[in-house]
Amino acid sequence: MSRILMCPPTYFGIEYVINPWMDMANQVDNNLVSTQWNTLKDTLEEAGAEIELIEPQPSLPDMVFTANAGLLRNNIFIPSRFKFPERQREMKHWIQWFIKAGYEVKEIPTELPFEGAGDALSGKVLFGGYGFRSSKEIYKEIEDIFSSEIIPLYLVDDRFYHLDTCFCPLSEEFAILYEGAFDEESIRSLKEHISYFSVPEQEAARFACNAVVIENNVVLPTGCPETERHLQSKGFTTFTVDMSEFLKSGGAAKCLTLKLS
Ligand code: ARG
Repeated sequence: MSRILMCPPTYFGIEYVINPWMDMANQVDNNLVSTQWNTLKDTLEEAGAEIELIEPQPSLPDMVFTANAGLLRNNIFIPSRFKFPERQREMKHWIQWFIKAGYEVKEIPTELPFEGAGDALSGKVLFGGYGFRSSKEIYKEIEDIFSSEIIPLYLVDDRFYHLDTCFCPLSEEFAILYEGAFDEESIRSLKEHISYFSVPEQEAARFACNAVVIENNVVLPTGCPETERHLQSKGFTTFTVDMSEFLKSGGAAKCLTLKLS
């Protein structure tokens, strides 16, 4: 059973601008926010996940994006080090939750930024995105903590500022990704480690790659028919959820989740 951490969208909104999707003039519709978030939660449960919740906090609108809390592997939780002060204030809540839940919390003694499972994703190996929110150097420290190799991937398109906005491992062998988000060298090293389907740009911009994989089930945003067809041809069952309000903040299905097991 897959366990996933989510944070109710009680205080979600566009209160600052820290990525190209966010615009103070493009505010969210609160009714849609709660419908979409609840539908995502129900869909994940239907797809086989068990959901755990962290209590949302006032004035921390991006706490809904639990993927950015940190990176978890084998009971060790490495808390993020947010690039922007607006999100740094979330950290004490994440750390408290993981300590209370019995995880071993290992903070990285550095000033370098790192945005957790938003930028570090595992297939057979761990892949670490850098360039916008996390620094390349941080992955050396994380390799030491987890004693496993990390493949650094350089993100070059600011619409896809976290690795999970443009890359989704489906299994140890297969992934979907948007090629335009990476530099050539990163595409070469991706090809050495995983085979992939490159989603069309239009679907990448609907956050097709921001998908949650629960065994054979993939939960992804609506509006990505080619990606869905590809996933189905690989034997996956697809579930879609309208994520329009979260896209206004530069996030979608996967960003709203953190896999605990
Ligand atoms: N507004 C949030 C930010 O810019 C969105 C985070 C999306 N999270 C993710 N894992 N891609 O930080």
